[in-house]
Amino acid sequence: ARVGIFQSGGLSALAVGVWLHELSTPTRHYIADIGQAAPAEVAALASSLRQFGAEAVVMDLRSSIAAVASDLLRYRACHDGGYWNTTGAARFVLVSEVAPVMRADGCRTLAHGCVGGGNDQRRFARYGAQVAPELPIIEPWTNARALERFPDRETMLAAVVEHGLHLDPGSSAERSTDANLAGISHESAELEDLETPVTRLDPRWSKWPGQTPDEPEIVTVTFRDGRVADVNGSGPEPVEWMTRANEIGARHGVWLRDVVERRIIGTVCRGIYEAPGLELLGRAWTRLLQASLDAASRELYDRMATVLGAAMYEARWLEPAAQAAREAIDRLVGEVGGSVTLSVHRGVVQGERMKVAGGVVRQTRFGSGGNRWSQAAAVQTAVQTAVQTGKGQRDA
Ligand code: ARG
Repeated sequence: ARVGIFQSGGLSALAVGVWLHELSTPTRHYIADIGQAAPAEVAALASSLRQFGAEAVVMDLRSSIAAVASDLLRYRACHDGGYWNTTGAARFVLVSEVAPVMRADGCRTLAHGCVGGGNDQRRFARYGAQVAPELPIIEPWTNARALERFPDRETMLAAVVEHGLHLDPGSSAERSTDANLAGISHESAELEDLETPVTRLDPRWSKWPGQTPDEPEIVTVTFRDGRVADVNGSGPEPVEWMTRANEIGARHGVWLRDVVERRIIGTVCRGIYEAPGLELLGRAWTRLLQASLDAASRELYDRMATVLGAAMYEARWLEPAAQAAREAIDRLVGEVGGSVTLSVHRGVVQGERMKVAGGVVRQTRFGSGGNRWSQAAAVQTAVQTAVQTGKGQRDA
């Protein structure tokens, strides 16, 4: 029976492909285009696998990852101190979209390149059990024979080079980079060391603030029905506004930073992240929520967002608690709309102005209530002026 492998083009996933090939296991490589690299890179990976003698298919999942990015924003599903969960989001998209295709193609076992002890291995296992429970997942890096063949990343690299396989540019013997349209994560033993300065990293999209333009850039984000609808004229397609937001944020070094995170299995680790677009949009969204929701709704939103941040991180996005939390937020933000204008400069995102067009507070503060408040203020100012000038008494 055929094995279906989630092929990222990273070092360990390619090594798993080589290992299965050497065991003469019929294998089909599924390469998802989730905006990790230019389409030409994705095509080059597929053709290098075919040249090697393997079956390879490319699936365009850019609109799926963009839709999940839209969810990350709507629910502000950030993990433990602000990580935008971009890798967890990608695992959700990969398993829920690719596993059914693997099954339909006759694959009876699933494989991936994630190493033991990381979050990604747990995520494949959890989503796999929900989406395709009858398909077992082989985890080569918990398999003694695989470890014997590939005891370290140097050995993997030698095999990948020998077979002319197209390695992801962020992947090397020392470093593992995970990228998609929503953002990028960089991990390595060196970066995990808390004494290594963050600026040791050469970011893929972004720039450190010292290398960004002198002039600030203005960006206007429009929201409709609780979701982004436009970023500086990008249009309403999530792939388009996500791409536009990434370009602007990356140009100015927004949210290029490290995160020290508590992993699913309990280890504490440090990684370096790029999520310029999500952060930019998230800042706009948070401002709009602050102006659109009453205090109790705003607090409930934050609590549900915390639940959802953990759910995305831990691969529990499909479980009942996460579903219920999403429904609660849907009720609160379903009508929130408006436009938020920000200025972006050297990594700093600053609110300029905004227009609120919906939300539960509309009737009280920004509808008639808002007008009444400003009328009252205007009357008070007029009275004060009159008292100070003595004019009021004459006119009254
Ligand atoms: N620590 C992050 C997470 O768990 C990033 C994982 C990155 N994965 C990778 N293969 N480089 O979401």
